[in-house]
Amino acid sequence: MPRVVIATSNPGKVCEFRAIWAGAGVELVGLDAFAPVSFPEEGDDYEANARVKAETAAQALGVAAVADDSGLEVEALGGRPGPRSARYGGPGLDDRGRAARLLAELETVPAGERGACFVCVAALALPDGRVFVARGECPGQILTAPTGTGGFGYDPVFALPGETTSLAELDEAAKNGLSHRGRALQALAPELARVGA
Ligand code: IMP
Repeated sequence: MPRVVIATSNPGKVCEFRAIWAGAGVELVGLDAFAPVSFPEEGDDYEANARVKAETAAQALGVAAVADDSGLEVEALGGRPGPRSARYGGPGLDDRGRAARLLAELETVPAGERGACFVCVAALALPDGRVFVARGECPGQILTAPTGTGGFGYDPVFALPGETTSLAELDEAAKNGLSHRGRALQALAPELARVGA
């Protein structure tokens, strides 16, 4: 089977890439199977960030690479933190701390105004320089307290429209079936036929 490197060090993303593309006809390999790759600093554009991550890995390793750039856009915050979601609140916070910080920032925002959307742009880079890109979105709302232990990142404070169950309470298959990452990777899947072709 042709190999594709998953160009991310985020273990939550690695699990989701593997589950979403299970049976897609490629062998998904982690970055840990290779010598370390150094990635450039991220900017504020999902597509540019996803492309540069996938291209950097594909060029450095000589193997096809997939990467994503994703984030949470909160309406009451004018779309923040968006592409800066991993950096929201500063370098001292972990996933749980960032989610708590978000809830604190939204403390006075009423139920009907807590709309948000997860966005994911996924990029597949081939060693010959070709890059394919797809985008997925998952609209929903920010809860008032974290619930659930699954998923990663902001999953415990995010629910689908009109729901009170967080993404962290869904099983992996349910989340991947409707998530921004699931949608982006499903849209990108037909391009996998080009890997090794
Ligand atoms: P980046 O794509 O590495 O810049 O990181 C995106 C950040 O957005 C993650 O670190 C999470 O904080 C957040 N994020 C992206 N996708 C998800 C998701 O599926 N669930 C929860 N948080 C997510």
